[in-house]
Amino acid sequence: MNTWKDTLKNTPLSQIMKTAYVKHIIIPAFNIPYLPMVEPVIQALEDTECFALLEVARPDINRFEAKSFAAVKAEFDRFKDLAVTRMHQDHVPVIDEDGKAVDWKALISEALNLNYDSVMIDGSRLPIAENIAVTREVVNMAHPRGVQVEAELGAVLGHESGPLPPYDEIFASGKGFTSPDDAERFVRETGVDWLSVAIGNIHGAISGSAKDQKKVEARLNIDHLRKLADRTGIPLVLHGGSGVRKEYVLQAIHNGITKINVGTEIRQAYEKALRETNNVRETQGILKAKVRNILNEYYEMSHSARTLGESIEKEL
Ligand code: 13P
Repeated sequence: MNTWKDTLKNTPLSQIMKTAYVKHIIIPAFNIPYLPMVEPVIQALEDTECFALLEVARPDINRFEAKSFAAVKAEFDRFKDLAVTRMHQDHVPVIDEDGKAVDWKALISEALNLNYDSVMIDGSRLPIAENIAVTREVVNMAHPRGVQVEAELGAVLGHESGPLPPYDEIFASGKGFTSPDDAERFVRETGVDWLSVAIGNIHGAISGSAKDQKKVEARLNIDHLRKLADRTGIPLVLHGGSGVRKEYVLQAIHNGITKINVGTEIRQAYEKALRETNNVRETQGILKAKVRNILNEYYEMSHSARTLGESIEKEL
């Protein structure tokens, strides 16, 4: 009998993330912009015995073909294996990438009613006091239902439709990076579980022709990350995981990043394979190989689910 699998299946995500945080085990979160991506991503996790989240955000639904939070959750429930995965609602913005106000409460409630394991409220375009107030409200909605909450502080750019300043300028100036003082206050006053930070990471583009372009190779300011980790004491999240240079990702894992969001890299791989094969089954096979490769070669996280399960068993 595989006891680590039974243990992990019966462990809430809150505990899995805590153990991952303490042991510096990375938990990738893969965005799902097309429903047929769910099955091969979960199979890749099973094949490699790695633990990761599947996640869906508004742009996956509005700009691509994820259809709805309910549709992705239904597909997840068809193929899920709770020893290797859970379902996360990514980026519910209070103000979206086009500057429009969003009915965030309705979207968070929808995910809670669909039994998502975690949700993300993104008040990062608000002044900090308002971001804190909104995040605290979501924590109060989610925690009584055992659901984890992620929030964002700082500016992770890239989803906006207008042109970005040159990447090297953003990185060198540190403009928009999460402030360690603000981060400490934010965590203390909100009770949030995980915090998305800006340390040089940017999102891959999602609009116009830019969505098909190769993403810039982002770097990370690891000293800045260390300061944020010291001041917050909770799992930190790296958005814009696609295309970050590997040496930075591996350092980030050892300095406080517990969750890393990956969207563009697997979306573009799926779209390219579908264009070339015109066959969903074949495309799924190609995506599965791609995800296995990301897990094994890029994150070097082989058997992370087994390690997590065995660690949690020892703690029990
Ligand atoms: P990338 O598309 O750059 O991988 O970013 C994904 C992300 O952060 C989703 O929240």
